[in-house]
Amino acid sequence: MGLKVLILGVNGFIGSSLTRRILQETNWDVYGMDVGDDRVRDLLVEPRFHFKEGDICIHQEWIEYHVKKCDVVLPLAAIATPATYVRDPLAVFELDFEANLAIVRQCVKYRRRLIFPSTSEVYGMSPDTPYNEETSALVTGPIEKERWIYASCKQLMDRVIYAYGKRDNLHFTLFRPFNWFGPHLDRLYEPKADQNRADPSEGPSRVVTRFMSNIFNGEDIILVDGGRQKRAFLYVDDGIDALMRIIRDDGGNADGRIFNIGHPGNEVSIRELAEKMLQITAQFEGYEGVGLTVRLIEKAGEAHYGKGYQDLQVRVPCIENAKKHLNWTPKIDLHTALKRTIAFYINQREVPAAAKQRAIA
Ligand code: UGA
Repeated sequence: MGLKVLILGVNGFIGSSLTRRILQETNWDVYGMDVGDDRVRDLLVEPRFHFKEGDICIHQEWIEYHVKKCDVVLPLAAIATPATYVRDPLAVFELDFEANLAIVRQCVKYRRRLIFPSTSEVYGMSPDTPYNEETSALVTGPIEKERWIYASCKQLMDRVIYAYGKRDNLHFTLFRPFNWFGPHLDRLYEPKADQNRADPSEGPSRVVTRFMSNIFNGEDIILVDGGRQKRAFLYVDDGIDALMRIIRDDGGNADGRIFNIGHPGNEVSIRELAEKMLQITAQFEGYEGVGLTVRLIEKAGEAHYGKGYQDLQVRVPCIENAKKHLNWTPKIDLHTALKRTIAFYINQREVPAAAKQRAIA
């Protein structure tokens, strides 16, 4: 008998990628809940995939039953887009903290292993380079900088889980994704007739999919605060590889530990990211002219996201913990990762367009 893995938010970016990998590589069963199924629709026929359409805030009975039934629990349902932290901070608190706390407590009650998504944002604007799980502090701005509600919720949850580990012997692992991206990161926005979107809460807000959408729609790319800030991006396949090692937990090496999961070698400024994405997209057939219509425009962060926004300039993970205890290293360089992601979105865009044309004909 294989493991029984419960994934809440199974249709999300990480949940759907993880489910695909589990079904391909193992004999495990995945029990998954989500409000939608568009990213996992092709997997619904798999006998080892047990999907329930539902909301983690409403279908608590189903969740409790499955926490009891499964070996490992991954509560991945959360809001993870900075535009929403600023626009609707209470929604972040209610879902990312309150709703997930109930699930954490069930793992304590039924003594189930918990693998919880912490985040690179728990370091806030820490001046450390790189960010270290054991020594780096959380540095946030004042309360009126609402962007930090996500970091604060996630860090408090890390502390709660850690405390349950100590007091009640909860078996847990916390993983901290550092700017993961790849296919299915966000859904792209439908083109709006020659109008530039000013509101970042409309359409994808995370940077790679936002730029992708801008490029496809021939819109200006907005470089928030000049695009000088840097991020280290990790391709999703590398992240899923780390997660598989955490779930397998060979020798109990993941238990009670916190892991930064990112690619220090893929650090890039946001301006460079935009330039690279334009260059790579232009290498695809039929997209040679994209750079001609898309301009790079600088805009202040507060003007773009609202007054509650504040940003960090540099964020690089220390991945020694993951190397040592999971025997994991990221393998996919930024260029390859962008090329694969852009190919995915081009394909996703062209297949429905071709189908529509056929339907008209
Ligand atoms: C992200 C999100 O909080 C989460 O997805 C996650 O927990 C975490 O960090 C992570 O993935 O490690 P951030 O790195 O700010 O936060 O993610 P993006 O929204 O993708 O923005 C990256 C940078 O691009 C920011 O400096 C932002 O201001 C900039 N940006 C974004 C632009 O310059 N233009 C845009 O149109 C969008």
